[in-house]
Amino acid sequence: MKTLAGLVLALFSTGSLALVPSPVVKARCDETSTTTSAPTPTPAVCEGATKFKYFGVNQAGAEFGNNVIPGSLGTHYIWPAPSSIDFFVEEGFNTFRVPFQQERLSPPETGIAGPFNEAYLGDLKTTVDYVTKTKDSFIAIEPHNFMIYNGSFITVDQKEDFAKFWFDLATEFKDNEKVIFDIMNEPHTQDAKDVFELNQAAVNAIREAGATTQLILVEGTAWTGAWTWTGYSGNGAVFGAISDPYNNTAIEMHQYLDSDGSGTSPVCVSSTIGVERVREATEWLKEHGLKGFLGEMGAGSNADCIAAVSGALCHLQQSGVWIGFAWWSAGPWWGNYFQSIEPPNGPALAEMYPQAIKPYL
Ligand SMILES: *[C@@H]1O[C@H](CO)[C@@H](O)[C@H](O)[C@H]1NC(C)=O
Ligand SMILES: *[C@@H]1O[C@H](CO)[C@@H](O)[C@H](O)[C@H]1NC(C)=O
Repeated sequence: MKTLAGLVLALFSTGSLALVPSPVVKARCDETSTTTSAPTPTPAVCEGATKFKYFGVNQAGAEFGNNVIPGSLGTHYIWPAPSSIDFFVEEGFNTFRVPFQQERLSPPETGIAGPFNEAYLGDLKTTVDYVTKTKDSFIAIEPHNFMIYNGSFITVDQKEDFAKFWFDLATEFKDNEKVIFDIMNEPHTQDAKDVFELNQAAVNAIREAGATTQLILVEGTAWTGAWTWTGYSGNGAVFGAISDPYNNTAIEMHQYLDSDGSGTSPVCVSSTIGVERVREATEWLKEHGLKGFLGEMGAGSNADCIAAVSGALCHLQQSGVWIGFAWWSAGPWWGNYFQSIEPPNGPALAEMYPQAIKPYL
């Protein structure tokens, strides 16, 4: 999710969003799709698809209220509901991306490389254990900080501190193979090269901590957008050099389908915008022999968006280079936010989910 301001705007502007009656949804990803039109809704057809190894949903809440540090549990922030995790596991999901607020884990009093707050770490561990042990699923843990700590950008000058943060966090989870380390949510404004260097330092630190089996996800600048990956973000020019002695690091990108790509409007640019916005990133992954993880996608529940999401998922699964996906977002506090897929009645559950997401599980 791009900004807190965007989130607040979304929460207040979509309370009365009317769901559009469901049209027939066809995957519109490329020429290999058939083009017959059936009179009744059918699951998307996607020929030659390879299922994702990690089929996920974001579980937001512990990063909420980031203008109040540390904030209080239940007032400013909340951890995912076990019942929500149960629902998605039952549906066939096997991955949960769980944001947290870095200053709650590493208090500003002692800094980014300082000791962890035991209560917040304990709650994070409770969620990790629930997902990985009780539900035998994967959890991607990620500081939802946009590479900003205590109000300032984390710069390359703080590379060692940032690496220490990840060394310490990986140490906590090094024996749990189902934990995925997602280095930093949506850096922006900073140079791609600086963001790359900070990510590389974190990858090295995680492996040095003895966490050698787990998947690591790195994100680029410009909110790690797929649509700008090879273009103005500069990410495409530097992230091909990512190196991991244990060869288990993937590139995480995010993609929203509204006009500014922020996920704050339920209106999609077109019914084909999903595949259009990720196609070049797919080619880039292939050219560099890298794997991708589409860690955030979201859109409104209307005909254009449903077709666009389905088309994107079909393309991702046909490409063979995208190993994971996660919808933005589940979480206990979304209310009527149009992208909420939180059971029992998040607005994305009624039509978007069965028509555009579930067929790809
Ligand atoms: C956090 O920000 C506050 C306010 O700007 C500042 O006084 C404090 O020194 C900062 N702490 C760290 C560890 O940077
Ligand atoms: C890394 O792993 C991938 C499979 O995920 C494999 O295709 C590739 O050859 C491996 N590269 C190295 C250097 O081991």
